[in-house]
Amino acid sequence: MTVKIAPSLFGADLGNLENQIKAVEDCKVEMLHIDVMDGNFVPNIAFGPDQVKMLRGKTDLFFDVHMMVVEPDRFIPRFVEAGADMITVHQEATTHLHRTLQLIKSFGIKAGVVLSPGTSIKTLEYVLDDIDMVLLMTVNPGYGGQSFIESSINKIKDLSEMIKGYNIDIQIDGGINLETAPKVVEAGANVLVAGSFTFKGDIAKNISALISAVNF
Ligand code: DX5
Ligand code: ZN
Repeated sequence: MTVKIAPSLFGADLGNLENQIKAVEDCKVEMLHIDVMDGNFVPNIAFGPDQVKMLRGKTDLFFDVHMMVVEPDRFIPRFVEAGADMITVHQEATTHLHRTLQLIKSFGIKAGVVLSPGTSIKTLEYVLDDIDMVLLMTVNPGYGGQSFIESSINKIKDLSEMIKGYNIDIQIDGGINLETAPKVVEAGANVLVAGSFTFKGDIAKNISALISAVNF
């Protein structure tokens, strides 16, 4: 199984986004993870649709947009128009999860559901036919640089069992580094978001170390 790497732009030098994106693009990563925070669902604010649209003009990387936004339906069309290739929404942030997923799909892009650490995977049971990816948060959403929550390993294993037979990726976001990455992959994850790990120091070196750590 190939593990996909998704550098999280939120961990980048935010004053130099174009350079930072070029650097990860040169590393042939599969996607760019873009965090959208509304200051309400999470206690922080990040990347709006106009900014994503500007970045779309700078790179052909696959845009994986992680919406930490209450009632995301209000903004989904704007992010599609801005160039999102996949949108993931928090189960906890939408009243009608199925409707939200249908809305994303209606634009012909990929759709996924995100679960915060305290949310059960049972909430996914009836939408498995409607999603391309599940994102399990392994920190509480809102900030980069937090420590990986160890109990997530069992959650990843349980999810991995639950989606057997479906074509659904398991993405992990929060506290990914050389120590946690092999553990989550062993548990069943195949897409790794890495923010502070990617952008602290030498980006190319960091990404190649991460790839080596998960190809066992
Ligand atoms: C946090 C964001 C993450 C963040 C991860 O809410 O969803 O994508 O950038 O940062 P690290 O990899 O530093 O934990
Ligand atoms: Zn994220």
